[in-house]
Amino acid sequence: KPSSTVVFIFGGSGDLNQRKLTPALYNLFIDDFMPENFAIIGTGRTDYSNEKFRGHLLEGIKEFSRRKNDKNATWENFQQHISYLRMDADKPEDYNGITKIIDDCEKTWGEHPSVLFYLAVAPQLVPEIATNLSKLKINKEDKKNTRIVVEKPFGHDLQSAKELNSLLTGLFEENQIYRIDHYLGKETVQNILALRFANALFEPIWNCNYIDHVQITAAETVGVEDRGGYYEQAGALRDMVQNHILQVLCMVAMEAPVSFEANEIRNKKSDVLNAIRKINKHEVQKYAVRGQYGSGWMQGKKEKAYREEKGVNPESATDTFAAVKFYIDNWRWQGVPFYVRTGKHLMEKTTLITIQFKEAPKYAFPSEASETWRANRLTISIQPEMDIRLRFQAKRPGQTMSLNPVDMVFSYNDNYDEPQPEAYETLLLDAMMGNATQFMRGDQVEIAWEVVAPILETWESRPPVDFPNYAPGSWGPEDAEALIARDGRTWVTLPPKKDRKE
Ligand code: BG6
Repeated sequence: KPSSTVVFIFGGSGDLNQRKLTPALYNLFIDDFMPENFAIIGTGRTDYSNEKFRGHLLEGIKEFSRRKNDKNATWENFQQHISYLRMDADKPEDYNGITKIIDDCEKTWGEHPSVLFYLAVAPQLVPEIATNLSKLKINKEDKKNTRIVVEKPFGHDLQSAKELNSLLTGLFEENQIYRIDHYLGKETVQNILALRFANALFEPIWNCNYIDHVQITAAETVGVEDRGGYYEQAGALRDMVQNHILQVLCMVAMEAPVSFEANEIRNKKSDVLNAIRKINKHEVQKYAVRGQYGSGWMQGKKEKAYREEKGVNPESATDTFAAVKFYIDNWRWQGVPFYVRTGKHLMEKTTLITIQFKEAPKYAFPSEASETWRANRLTISIQPEMDIRLRFQAKRPGQTMSLNPVDMVFSYNDNYDEPQPEAYETLLLDAMMGNATQFMRGDQVEIAWEVVAPILETWESRPPVDFPNYAPGSWGPEDAEALIARDGRTWVTLPPKKDRKE
C-alpha cells in the first residue's frame, strides 16, 4: 500500500475525472489498495460545494466503475476522503489553498504525506499550473514524495513536446514527472513482457529469422463523440499512433530487460524508438495512409460524417484513420515490417497484436492437404477480449492427410477469477507508490514525435483530396488495404467471439 497521500486532481469537475480517475480510485479503495490516510481533492473553476462535487463523482462511479454493482461498495466511507477546492489555475494566490490542505493533512495524520498532482486539464493549461505548483514550499522540500502526472497529449509536435519537457524538467526532477499513457496500464499490454521474458519458448524465435511481419490494430467503433474541438487539432496519428501504438510496438520489439527498474525498461524502449527508420518525406505515400469517415449506417444507426460533427470544420483535413508501415533498423528486426492502423468508426472495437511467423522451410504434405493459412501466427488480443492465441496446423481426423489451422488459446477470463484492474487503477497506484516503470520518460516522448513528424508534416503540407474516404463500420480507406496487400499480406482480424472455435 502507498504511504499517506493527498491526490489533487486539476480538472476535477471534468470528464476524465468523472469517467476514469475517481472510479479508478474508488476501485482501488474497495480492493484495499488505498493508503490508510488519503485525501482526494478536486480543483477547478466550477463552483461546487463538497456535497455537490461528491454527488457529481458518484454519478460517474455508478456509470463507469467496474465495481458499481459491488455489494460491499463503501461509497459512504470513500466519499469522506473527497473534497473540492475552487481555484483559478492562473491565480498564484489560489495555490495557497493547496498548501493549507497539505498542512492540515499532515497535522491530522501525524506525518508528511506524499502529494500527487494530477493534471487532467487542457494541454495549454499545463505550463502555468506546473509553474505555480513548482513554487509551492512543499515541492522544494520534499522532491521524492511530490509527483506530477501529466495527461496526453504531451505536446502537439516535436517542437512543442521539447518545450514542454524543458519547462517541466526545469521545474521538477525527471523522477517526479509521470507522463501517462493509459495503454501501458492495461493488463494485456503488461502481459506482453511476461509472455516474452518469463518464458524461454518465444524469445529464440522472436526475431527476423522467424517472424515475417507484425501488425498492431487499435480500432474503435465510436466516432469523435463530443471531442470534435480537441480532435480537430489532433487527428488519429497524433491521438493514437504517436503514443499508444508506438508504446505497444516498443513492448513487442524491445530487447530483454535486465531488471524491472523504471529506467532499465524505459532505456530498452527508447532503443526501439531510436531504431525506427525515419520515413523520408517524399516516400510518405508509400508508408502511410490517412482516412476520414463519411456519413453512413453503422449497426442500424445513421452516423454523421466527421465533417458534420460538433466543433469540426466542414472542410476538415483531419485524419480519423491512420495506417503506417514501420521498419526497425536493428539486428533483431531487420527487414520485418510493423504494420499499424487505428481509426474511429471502424467495424469493431478491438486492439490486436499479430505476430505472423514465416512459413515452415519445407512443406512435405501433398498440395491438396491444406488450402488455408500454413504459417504460424500468434495473436495477442488486448481488448475487449483479453486472450492470446497461437495458430498452428493440425491434421484433421480421417483417412486423408488433410490439414487445417487450429488455435491454442489462453483466455484471461477462463484462467483467472480475480477481477481485472483497469488501466487507470494500475497507473494511479503506481504513481502513488512512486513507480514510474509504466510511464513515459521525456526522451521517449520526443523520439516518438520524431518518428511521426515526417508523416505529420507531409500530410499538413498536402491537404487530402479524397476526404471523406471511408464509410462508418468499414475497416477504413481502401488505401490501407493496398498498403499491406502490396507486400502480399492482409490485415488480421479475429472472428467475432461467438464464431470462434476454441
Ligand atoms: C485516448 C484517445 O487516448 O484513447 C481517444 O484520446 C481514444 O481518442 C482512447 O478513444 C482509446 O482508449 P481505449 O482504452 O478505449 O482503447
